[in-house]
Amino acid sequence: MMKLENIDKYYNINTSSEVHALKNINLSIEKGEMVAVMGVSGSGKSTLIHILGCLDKQTSGKYFLGEYEVSKYSNNEIAVIRNEEIGFVLQNFGLLADKTVYENISYPLIFNPAVKYKMMKKLITKTADAMLIGDLLKKPVKELSGGQKQRVALARALVNRPNIIIADEPTAALDKATADEIMEVMKSLNSIGKTIVIVTHDRTVAEKCKRIVELSDGEIISDKTIA
Ligand SMILES: Nc1ncnc2c1ncn2[C@@H]1O[C@H](COP(=O)(O)OP(=O)(O)OP(=O)(O)O)[C@@H](O)[C@H]1O
Ligand SMILES: [Mg+2]
Repeated sequence: MMKLENIDKYYNINTSSEVHALKNINLSIEKGEMVAVMGVSGSGKSTLIHILGCLDKQTSGKYFLGEYEVSKYSNNEIAVIRNEEIGFVLQNFGLLADKTVYENISYPLIFNPAVKYKMMKKLITKTADAMLIGDLLKKPVKELSGGQKQRVALARALVNRPNIIIADEPTAALDKATADEIMEVMKSLNSIGKTIVIVTHDRTVAEKCKRIVELSDGEIISDKTIA
């Protein structure tokens, strides 16, 4: 379960460039949900999911990730919790362009002391095969197409087998057919019990989720569960 209570987020607080990016957000996402976050550019979508994904901290309010109240933990402790619980697909992939597909996918495993080298190789190959990029492992990411990069970003998010997958615009750079394939992957992950949160501008993508949360100017203006 992820639960945000009275969350406010300011950037550049108390300066002339202060931005009030999230305003008194209250949101609960249960285990196994598949949620789309929508809203125009600048409405706070990335800010919201960065907090959900423990990549950033709120200015005030409480965030509970399962039993953890995240702000009570040190950055190092949060990094461990995040690495175990959450796979994150960043907006614009967030891949290392000069590194190979294999190296990019391996990144979360390097920080997971429970995973030994041999196991690591197996996990990477298995995840890459599932994402249909098993034949690209030796290629540098800069030589891939947009759809292939998206699959690498997804494989990297999945390789640690997290319970929660958070993706920022995972279909934005893709043609419709490739976007549909990525959404099918998301749906099948949800069907095996993973909690999924997807930011999207695209209503047809959002409608593949069971719940749509809409942001406007840092506030939740609607939260609908699709029957
Ligand atoms: N690192 C930052 N420093 C200062 N302001 C920021 C920062 N990141 C975001 N903002 C501001 O916070 C507000 C919300 O930004 P956010 O990135 O969450 O929007 P978004 O809904 O994800 O937009 P997009 O659809 O363009 O990705 C915007 O006004 C943005 O300019
Ligand atoms: Mg964004």
